Amino acid sequence: MYKIDDLRYDYGALEPVIDRDTMVLHHDKHHMAYLNKMNALLEKYNYSKDYDLIELVNHIDFIDVVDREAFLFNYGGVVNHNLFFKIMGPSNHEPFGLVLDAINAKYGSFTAFKEAFIGLANTMMGSGWVMLVMKNNELDLIKLKNQDNPYILGYKPLIAIDLWEHAYYLKYRNVRPDYINAFFDVVDFAMVNALYEEER
Ligand SMILES: [Fe+2]
Repeated sequence: MYKIDDLRYDYGALEPVIDRDTMVLHHDKHHMAYLNKMNALLEKYNYSKDYDLIELVNHIDFIDVVDREAFLFNYGGVVNHNLFFKIMGPSNHEPFGLVLDAINAKYGSFTAFKEAFIGLANTMMGSGWVMLVMKNNELDLIKLKNQDNPYILGYKPLIAIDLWEHAYYLKYRNVRPDYINAFFDVVDFAMVNALYEEER
């Protein structure tokens, strides 16, 4: 069965932007709960293939329609969080490389891109995600409700912000805009650039 990705850094490595307690709960409890529920559904259907997790979403015909929503919700929880934790880190917070060139070409400047990303994140009602994604080598910003995932829509995601309350509530309480504004201080652009180079 599938596993969640280990954190590439210490739970406290993103402080003060994201506190250790939030990271422990978020990674070890929330993320793990999505994984356990997804695996339980796969077991229910005697899943025995070993598709890459990203690829798996294109092969879910074996799951009865009645369980599809629950599967996709938990699958999305797993892949979205894998991405979120992967593209953050304690260093490389300045954008650079080919991904910066692509951002500048699309949005005019990194500042303008950041404003568009933050602006879109602030429009999220309820729980969900905002992501910088790529399709046909074109960058775009998308908003996903709940645990909808970008892969089923054919997007290759590069940056993702988790807009569920569990992502920020311990530290930021009801002031979600402060969490959103601080997010780029923990994005690891070495990882984002590597994803861009891999996917383009
Ligand atoms: Fe989350």
